[in-house]
Amino acid sequence: MKKLVNPFKPTAGAEPPVLIGREKVLEDFSDALEEGVGAPSRLMRITGPRGSGKTVLLTELGDIARERGWSVVDETASEKLVSSLVAALGQRAASPEASVDFDLGVVKAHVGTGAVEDSSKLTLREAMGRATSRRTGNPMGLLVTIDEVQDAAESDMREIASAVQHLIRERKNVAFVFAGVTTGVMDLINGPALTFLRRAKAEELGAIPLDEVSVALRASIEKSGMRVSDAALDDMARATEGYAYLIQLVGYHVWRMARRHAGESLTITQEDSSEGVKEALRDFNVAVHETALADLPLKAVEYLLAMTCDDGVSSTAEIADRLQTSPSSLTSYRRMLVKRQIIEPTARGFVAFSIPYTREYLMESRDALLARYGC
Ligand SMILES: Nc1ncnc2c1ncn2[C@@H]1O[C@H](COP(=O)(O)OP(=O)(O)OP(=O)(O)O)[C@@H](O)[C@H]1O
Ligand SMILES: [Mg+2]
Repeated sequence: MKKLVNPFKPTAGAEPPVLIGREKVLEDFSDALEEGVGAPSRLMRITGPRGSGKTVLLTELGDIARERGWSVVDETASEKLVSSLVAALGQRAASPEASVDFDLGVVKAHVGTGAVEDSSKLTLREAMGRATSRRTGNPMGLLVTIDEVQDAAESDMREIASAVQHLIRERKNVAFVFAGVTTGVMDLINGPALTFLRRAKAEELGAIPLDEVSVALRASIEKSGMRVSDAALDDMARATEGYAYLIQLVGYHVWRMARRHAGESLTITQEDSSEGVKEALRDFNVAVHETALADLPLKAVEYLLAMTCDDGVSSTAEIADRLQTSPSSLTSYRRMLVKRQIIEPTARGFVAFSIPYTREYLMESRDALLARYGC
């Protein structure tokens, strides 16, 4: 019998067995690389809540660029974003064909031949300019990706935007993609002097259609040597709510349940899916909800609990009524919750939870949550 290996990857940044619902953005990006300087998808902003698939998408875009012989520099926002970028670009330009892949998380000693000038003395614009030329002097494509941009300093983003803008004006083959949680990214790029980044092509990672989720779940399961009944597949897809991280968690746990009876039957049943989904949601609560709600002030937790009376959208005026206070006294808490992407405005005066199963989690853990504040 073929060895059964769980194909699902419920880990941040891990490449899923099937990348679901991203054909259009991958195609747009790939076309943009062919189309040349000025193609809109060469400048892209990817936003979405935690676990919606931003990092994985950045990796895929990087792969597309590499396949076309482009140089790719991936960075995650940190205090030293610009200097890390300059160092990474310097190494890139120093490599013999300027196309060797380095582990950019670590600044390594220069390899390659001959003396290499100290790249840390270059400005970002110079470093990027050099990375767009091969040693032979031939032009070279350069993709820069930055993840977790909501944590970047505005001054760093301004410097990066300005360098990219200049390179585009100089008709260099450059692409820039940045990703982060929606509100944080929007706050940042709506700041002064970041107009250029505001024009980036927007890719908001919302829910993936459930029919696509079903097709991909079935394909991954069958490829692994198992099968799934139609009813079980339906239950699995529905439980994911089209949310990338949940797709992997549900797939992983349901598959594990079924492996227990693999000696007798290789088909995933509704019983497996029901048990597996429960396990998946337990993991999801710990990894997503508990992290999101950690160290919130009591008033913010009360705000969330007041929202659980509604099935869907909540009116901010009604939330204030329920908490027996004025809407204006809750403004700062609402803002905090929006900024952390726990809730989001749906219309003026209305909010909803941003991540699936938040309401269920809050209802189940209400007493435990309040007990943390001595209530
Ligand atoms: N298009 C997709 N189809 C199926 N699974 C996906 C897809 N994109 C991401 N995943 C899975 O979802 C999980 C989260 O992905 P990823 O780490 O990229 O999310 P993220 O938005 O970067 O999260 P965070 O905001 O926490 O950094 C991973 O387990 C990954 O394998
Ligand atoms: Mg990420």
